[in-house]
Amino acid sequence: MADGKNLVGVDIGTSSIKVCQLKESRRGVSLLRLGYAPLAPQTIVDGQVMDSGVVIETLQRVFHNAKIRQKECAISVSGQTVIIRKISVPMMTQAELDEQIHWEAEQHIPFDIKDVQVDYQVLRRRPEVSQMDLLLVAAKRDQINDYAQLARDAKLRPVVCDIDAFTVQNLFEFSRGLPPDQTIAIINVGASLTSLNIVAGGVSAFTREIASGGNIITDEIQKQLGVPFDQAEAYKCGGALDAQGGQPGMVPAQVVQIIDSVSDAIAAEIQRSLDFFMATSGEAEIMRIFVTGGSANLVSLAQAIERRARVPSEVWSPIERIAADPRDVSHQLLQARAAQLSVALGLALRHEKETRT
Ligand SMILES: Nc1ncnc2c1ncn2[C@@H]1O[C@H](COP(=O)(O)OP(=O)(O)OP(=O)(O)O)[C@@H](O)[C@H]1O
Ligand SMILES: [Mg+2]
Repeated sequence: MADGKNLVGVDIGTSSIKVCQLKESRRGVSLLRLGYAPLAPQTIVDGQVMDSGVVIETLQRVFHNAKIRQKECAISVSGQTVIIRKISVPMMTQAELDEQIHWEAEQHIPFDIKDVQVDYQVLRRRPEVSQMDLLLVAAKRDQINDYAQLARDAKLRPVVCDIDAFTVQNLFEFSRGLPPDQTIAIINVGASLTSLNIVAGGVSAFTREIASGGNIITDEIQKQLGVPFDQAEAYKCGGALDAQGGQPGMVPAQVVQIIDSVSDAIAAEIQRSLDFFMATSGEAEIMRIFVTGGSANLVSLAQAIERRARVPSEVWSPIERIAADPRDVSHQLLQARAAQLSVALGLALRHEKETRT
């Protein structure tokens, strides 16, 4: 249930800040504004903000350049301090649950409960055994507060804080729908993180953050070829130093080998998580894997995932059901950055006022 205007989706990623503003109408959803700015490699390291001044300044610049005046926004957190568990609790009313949830959560979370923000979603009621299944989500207050504070320092008003994996699922649901009787996996491969979300029968059954992404490919190119970050990044992305205009140059043959072998290593880690899920969940076999995130631009990555997991895999573009008028949004920027927009677009689908479903 949604009410009020769409929030501006703000994704503060390791490689870059992405900002999207959507407009929903009877004719569909369209992108009104798009902002993008890269962040220097040491600004955010493994989800930890090292230089908040740069992030704040970049956020302000992105909003200004994209001509976004609205301040109300939705942000998200990711990373290994976010904990998601499926738990069962005795049947109770919503009011009772709101009261009890901290006590229930305490038994499943390895952090001090005072340090975490807890939320939940009722997945299933099982009156026959007087139990209900919940999806419990806990994120360190520090991390949420830090990101919200960055937004406030950039003169924004963060209204919603989501989790990367759910945001992407939300957009996927809008884009493709969630199959009611199948298990699928949605994988977002960014710069330093890969988030994996297995959705069974329309609800998230398992999520995991894997601490690697496209950066480890860039690192390896830097190391093996002895070139600086920017050059290695350009080689990885096909030779152009800048996706918005640089001319594709020659890419050393070794780069292709590095991309293939590191992609295979990332895919192997993903496969271990999928295997763990299959061995422990009792859910139906995964029918399809959808790969998104900036690193999904690497064709060999989705191929490696398909090979390793032995599940048909496809690259899913977050913008496939979103219209964009070239008078509002640069077509070139949108095409170059499309794969990186799943979190920002998912956040931009959120509204100012929402009620729990
Ligand atoms: N055309 C391309 N080819 C290959 N890799 C690309 C391309 N475009 C972007 N990438 C890679 O995608 C990654 C950035 O993706 P994305 O914006 O989804 O990550 P992020 O949100 O900044 O990082 P994280 O989610 O890990 O914090 C970088 O590693 C970048 O090199
Ligand atoms: Mg990201």
